[in-house]
Amino acid sequence: MSAQPKTETTLLDRARQVLPGGTFGNTAADVIVSEGKGTRVWDENGKEYIDYLLGSGPMIVGHAHPEVTAAVRAQIEKGTTFFANNAKGIELAEVIVDAVPCADKVRFASTGSEADAFAIRLVRAYRGRSKILKFEGGYHGYSDYGLMSLAPPKPGNDYRPQPDSAGIPDNVRDHILVAPFNDVDAVAGLIDAHKGEIAAVFMEPVQRLIPPRPGFLEAMRELTEKNDILLCFDEVVTGFRLSYGGAQQYYGVTPDLCTLGKAIGGGFPLSAIAGREEIMALFDRERTDAAHFVPQVGTLSGNPVAAAAGIATLEVLKRPGTYERYFEVGNRLKSALSERLQRAGLEAQVVGDAPMFDTVFAGGEIRNYRDTLRADKTQMSRLNALLRARGILKGENKYYLSVILDEDDIAQTIDAWDDAITEMTA
Ligand SMILES: Cc1ncc(COP(=O)(O)O)c(C=O)c1O
Repeated sequence: MSAQPKTETTLLDRARQVLPGGTFGNTAADVIVSEGKGTRVWDENGKEYIDYLLGSGPMIVGHAHPEVTAAVRAQIEKGTTFFANNAKGIELAEVIVDAVPCADKVRFASTGSEADAFAIRLVRAYRGRSKILKFEGGYHGYSDYGLMSLAPPKPGNDYRPQPDSAGIPDNVRDHILVAPFNDVDAVAGLIDAHKGEIAAVFMEPVQRLIPPRPGFLEAMRELTEKNDILLCFDEVVTGFRLSYGGAQQYYGVTPDLCTLGKAIGGGFPLSAIAGREEIMALFDRERTDAAHFVPQVGTLSGNPVAAAAGIATLEVLKRPGTYERYFEVGNRLKSALSERLQRAGLEAQVVGDAPMFDTVFAGGEIRNYRDTLRADKTQMSRLNALLRARGILKGENKYYLSVILDEDDIAQTIDAWDDAITEMTA
């Protein structure tokens, strides 16, 4: 093997000196990105990649989009943060209220995890109950309550909540109920067994990449309504991605509340909690008694630079034809990948919808987290490594697509798949 070129080796050595594991905790330490433009990123050695990592989702209109860059530059000249109302933040809130079906009102935070943590507290305060029903394998950020049963390595026969991190107090499990995704009966059973104790069903409408089965979201809406339980969609990933109005618009099921992140910050730290008027009113001291008031505050909440980037990004997304083309390209890529996996005789399938999908090395339907445990992780890592060598950058388990992929990107991606899958099966 040839020695790693100098720039990246040096930086990697420096990273190992100062960062645990030599990383920021996100992707592999040896990916050191120096630049991004459009659909491409370059590493510190100058190697070019088609970027399907997309900063873990925010860069949906591509890197350094000229309109986003111009909006950010204009705002930076006028100051970068105020901890006070500002026109850009107010305008972004208006855009969200116009676009997202459940959004009567909006509050901002900086990360998806933060928005989820506020939303979890808000639903508890509103309902006066402590239990949150979530789905095994669903991600709702890194708070103690969010990080339960995301990825239990050896789930037992039951669905007892399990912490995904050291340092989470034992009693957190008393406040969480866990169900298998896409299983209406399991949710109905838990709701029955815990009458009057559940504040909300908190869910990713598309769990990681697993789509809801037809009728599943509708059933969640019906069950929660019937039992006076709130329904919260974590739309940090799906918001403005599955459609301009998010998964709730795409599937036609309106929750009481949702969280947003990634796309709405246009590559800057910005997230939101959006929901029905009377629930969001608990953030308003004037309208709420002290027993129900939920303080919602953050140094950078409503930051005007992030809001300017978000507004510019959403303007690009709103243009006629954007989502039609996005889905056409995504579906074309999905089919191409699927065909190649099949032709190679691999026991594998493509899971996910056009804006985000990936290979799962397993047969049979993937309905929930436990089905994903059947997947062959070694084959997945091998394919990812072969693709990276061929200029495809992606997350471990996801291709995030931008809306600006062009015919060259598509052809090059399919060539890389051809080549990598051929090598894999040689
Ligand atoms: C569904 C979902 N919720 C919440 C989060 C947390 O967002 P952040 O990483 O901005 O804290 C993520 C992050 O990937 C996510 O995918």
